[in-house]
Formats: sequence, C-alpha cells, structure tokens
Amino acid sequence: MNARANVGHAVATTTTPPTQHRKLLAWVAEVAALTQPDRIYWCNGSDEEYDQLCAELVASGTFTKLNETLRPNSYLACSDPSDVARVEDRTFICSEREEDAGPTNNWTAPGEMRKTLTGLFAGAMRGRTMYIVPFSMGPLGSHIAHIGVEISDSAYVAVNMKLMTRMGRKVLDVLGDDGVFVPALHSVGAPLETMGKDVPWPCNKDHKYIVHFPETREIWSYGSGYGGNALLGKKCFALRIASVMGKQQGWLAEHMLILGVKTPEGKKHYITAAFPSACGKTNFAMLIPPAPFKEAGWEVTTVGDDIAWIKPGPDGRLYAINPEAGFFGVAPGTSYETNPNCMDSMKSNTIFTNVALTPEGDVWWEGMTKTPPANLVDWQGRDWTPDCGRLAAHANARFTVSATQCPSLDAEWDNPNGVPIAAMIFGGRRSSTVPLITEAANWNEGVYMAATLGSETTAAITGQVGVVRRDPFAMIAFCGYNMADYFGHWVQMGNSLGPNSPKIYCGNWFRKDENGKFIWPGFSDNMRVLKWIIERIEGKANAEKTALGSIPKYSDLDWNGSSFPEEKFDAITTVNHLEWAQELTLHDDLLTKLAHHLPTEMTERYAVLKAAI
Ligand code: GTP
Ligand code: SPV
Ligand code: MN
Repeated sequence: MNARANVGHAVATTTTPPTQHRKLLAWVAEVAALTQPDRIYWCNGSDEEYDQLCAELVASGTFTKLNETLRPNSYLACSDPSDVARVEDRTFICSEREEDAGPTNNWTAPGEMRKTLTGLFAGAMRGRTMYIVPFSMGPLGSHIAHIGVEISDSAYVAVNMKLMTRMGRKVLDVLGDDGVFVPALHSVGAPLETMGKDVPWPCNKDHKYIVHFPETREIWSYGSGYGGNALLGKKCFALRIASVMGKQQGWLAEHMLILGVKTPEGKKHYITAAFPSACGKTNFAMLIPPAPFKEAGWEVTTVGDDIAWIKPGPDGRLYAINPEAGFFGVAPGTSYETNPNCMDSMKSNTIFTNVALTPEGDVWWEGMTKTPPANLVDWQGRDWTPDCGRLAAHANARFTVSATQCPSLDAEWDNPNGVPIAAMIFGGRRSSTVPLITEAANWNEGVYMAATLGSETTAAITGQVGVVRRDPFAMIAFCGYNMADYFGHWVQMGNSLGPNSPKIYCGNWFRKDENGKFIWPGFSDNMRVLKWIIERIEGKANAEKTALGSIPKYSDLDWNGSSFPEEKFDAITTVNHLEWAQELTLHDDLLTKLAHHLPTEMTERYAVLKAAI
C-alpha cells in the first residue's frame, strides 16, 4: 500500500502534500505503508485547524470544553491512569556502540531495536488519521534553530505541538525542497481497527518505547500519548538528539530555563537555571520580585521555562535561545501566591491535562486555592470531595499554553540570535546537605557541581517519588550520549570560552526542618538570591569562601520586606562536614560509574573536595 492510496479526509482541506521535499514525501509514504492509517492529514498550523482538531477531540471524548466565560477557548484532557508521566525505564539511546550511550542510558543495538519497532508500528495506525506535523525548534530561520517533522496518530499531539512549537506550513516553507529535518515518528500504539470502539485516551498498556537513534538523528515513540513521551520536539529532539548535535557542533542543549533580570540601574542580565523535572524551573522563570525590589526597579522576564540551546556568539560569549514556543508546565502547586504570571498565562487558550473539573466547568488542582471546592470531578472522572482521601488532580497534571500568553515574556524571547548568558544555576530538590546557594570558583569547579547534582525524584517520571538520585546537570534522563563525554564537552566548552565563561552556581530551595517543612520561603523570595548573583556578576556583593565554594553570609543578601531570621539562614547555608562526607561517597559512586571517558578535571576536583571535607 502506498501513501496516495491511503489519503482521505479527516479535517483535510487538502489531499495534496503541501511540499515537494522528496525525502519527506518518501518518509511519509514509507510510514503510511508500515502503519496503514485510514487518512493522512498535513497540519498547516492555522488557528482554524487548531479549532477544528479541538472540536474533533471534544466529539471523540478526549477533550472536555471548559466554561467559555471562565476559561475561554480551553480544554481538559484526562489520560489513561497508566499513561501519566515520562517513562525513563522505557527510554532508549540506540547508538551503534553501547559505550556511546554510556552507563546512564538504556541501550539496545539499533538493528535489533528497529526490528522490534517495525513489528510494533506495523498496522499501528489502522482506523486512525496520521497527522504530519512540521515544527521548528527555535525561531523560524534562526541559525540556532532546527526543524523536525513529527508523524503521529494523535490529534492531541497535533494541537499540543501547535502551542509548544512553531508548527505548520511556514516550517515547510523554510524547509524547502531539500532542507534537513529530524524525523520523529509517534503512535499511541492502539490501532482503532482492532479495538472496535475508540477510547478517550488511547495508549498501549503493554508496550512503550521512547527510542532515539543518535547517529541517524531519528526518533521513534510508541505506546504513550503523554507529555515528553509524545510531544517529540521537547525532550526527544530538543534535548536527547540536540545534545548529540551540540557535542558534534560545539554547542549545548540543556534542561534549563532562561530568565532576564533588569537592575534598578537599567542593566540587563540573562541567567539560565537547570533544575530537574518538577523542581521549580517554571516558577523561577516567571518570578515576580517582592514588593520592595519591584519598587526599587528590579524586573524579571521570561525567555524559556524548560530547555535552552546555547551557542558561542561572534563576541565569544554564550547566547541562548528557547527552542520551544510554549510551556508544558506542572499544574499542582501553581497558584496566584506561588506564580501569578503562570496563572495569568493560562486564563484562556490553554489545554489542561489530568487536572480536576469544577461543577462550573473550570479547572482545579491541589494548591491552586487554599480552600478546595466542595465538589469536583477528579482527573479519573470520579466524584471528588475534599475529605475523600484522593488527589483531585494527578501530581504530574500539566497545562499547555503558548509562551505569548505569559505576562512576563521577555522582549528578546524570540530573538533568532538568542540572549547573552551571564550566569548558570544548577539546583536540585534536597531536604538536607546542599546549601541555598554556592558560587563555583571557576568554570571547571562549576562543571563538577553540576555533574554531581543530586535531587529527590518527583511525579514527573513514573516510579518512586522522593528518592535522592544523582541527576548530573538535571540531564540524567535527557543526555543522548555518554554522560562522561558530556562532562568532557562542558570542560571543553569552558576551555574555549576562557574569560567569557558565565559564572556557575549551585542552588537548593528545598531544605526542610525537623518537622519536614520547607525552611526557605522560596518562590518570589528566590529574588534575594538572584539579586546577590547579579551583584556578584557586577562585582558588588560579598561572600564567604567555604570548602564547596563561595556562600553568602546573612548580611550579603537583601532582606527588605522579609522577616526570615538569621538562624534559619545559617541552617540552610552552613556546610555540615558530616553530611558532606556522606554526600561525597555518592559523588564517588557516580564518578566510578562514569569512570570510562571521565575527564580528569572531575576526579581532581573530587580529590580536592575530599581533602577539604
Ligand atoms: P518540568 O516542567 O517537569 O521540567 O519542571 P519545572 O522545573 O518547570 O517545575 P515547576 O516550576 O513546575 O515546579 C513544580 C514544583 O516545584 C511545584 O510543586 C512547586 O510548588 C515547586 N516549587 C517551585 N519553586 C519552588 C520554591 O521556590 N520553593 C518550594 N518549596 N517549592 C517550589
Ligand atoms: C519534564 O519531565 O522535565 C518535563 C515534562 O518538562 S515532559 O515534557 O513530560 O517531559
Ligand atoms: Mn522539563
């Protein structure tokens, strides 16, 4: 069967492929022959198309349209309870050589994996529409941007890709007849033909595969419709495949937010921060300074909340773009208290996934308001009351919204040349041990800090929550090659940047007291730390040298409008040598695991730290 024989009309305004790109047409035909969809639909990215696909998703029961007055042009999708987060144990880097995937990635020989996938994809789209979704990661035409094409049998994926990326006809225009693109094939793995009747959230309970072929830069994803498993521009392309491209071409693809800070003197600094999944990137990226800071003239703006592509610019400094065009953010915990900019971003034109539905047809999740509504329909469609003992929203419930809806969006967010980076923060979720903020003495000490980052696991991945694991650079799940080589790439980058290298910091907003309560107020109070970092960059602020690096004293931070006491500050900034002796054994475990290819800079720094502790 060839592609032409399969062409039909779902929402199609055209049956003729809107491109002459031979390689793309050949790939589409090949995939259609393998997966045997009923219809092929080329997404053009228009608003009309978005509305029509959403209407179809409402008709099929995947979407519930929310109250048009309370939440205009917005929808709720609730997933199958077996398909709620990224599946790291089902994620594979299938490089030719196992050592190129390295000890932190799942690996299968590419030939063997192709055989498995070809078997699974055979007939996988029977009875469904195959959507062709051309997308650009990064501003269209930017020298830092790259193009992908996702083929998916999920309309939910198509509409999410419209919000998350630059998507549609304009991408094909840039691609032309022979441009380079990353092919990203996705199926929910639930052929309609064999199911008889469709379900609101088709997926495959038995088989899930999130697969990357780094040498040929291909992505194959099977069995899940959720988040990073299915929106293949995000983790699969912009991190796993892009990290490999960055290694080869001399740039960085990172799990980082990008924010801008304007000082009262009107000076603008851009900062990136890498925190693991559900550890505060969206919140930090959209931070609103405390009132006295705002009044003094401090301003924080948002460039990105999850991924940064970073390249040396003509002046020798690092420049970052946000390759995405939208946010796929964690809903629980987001409120007008914790993140007003985020709440305002999702007032309209938003897709919610796995949150609860109010009787008025609006959404709710844990932490959104102090007092929960008296009645809800929870994310699994069951009646919910505050005393029922269940979560109303899934802990990894998310919202999808276009970046342009964010009130704090930076004026340069779409600049094809990116923004210059002055500092990088690496942070994890650690209830003990790791200080609020530490400044590395130099690039390589910063690389060591990032490489040995630990964090407690969250609901963003399937499996146990709250277990401390090493999460180097917050990239444990996203590095498309050997992690030790990745450390080497960072060391190399510092060598070539020399005096232009940004300062590096290690942060932790998550220290807890003996009652299990967060000590640091976090959220807008993180501005106090941010201000100190800016003043360090400008050479204005003091710090105390410790075995780990430079740490501010209480008097080095601006406490205007705060009653946070000095003894609590000391509790979250003092380096406890007993705890650190323990921590260093965990560093040792990681460095041992990555010993093959490990840059000597890492073992040297470990030895210095060990002697100091
Ligand atoms: P991904 O999208 O999964 O990559 O995650 P993210 O890093 O963008 O996570 P997000 O900002 O959405 O963080 C979600 C969780 O972190 C929520 O539970 C927040 O309440 C919590 N959080 C964010 N900032 C802070 C903070 O400063 N202090 C504390 N205690 N919690 C925070
Ligand atoms: C993460 O898990 O880090 C996310 C959400 O940003 S997802 O897109 O599902 O990977
Ligand atoms: Mn993320």
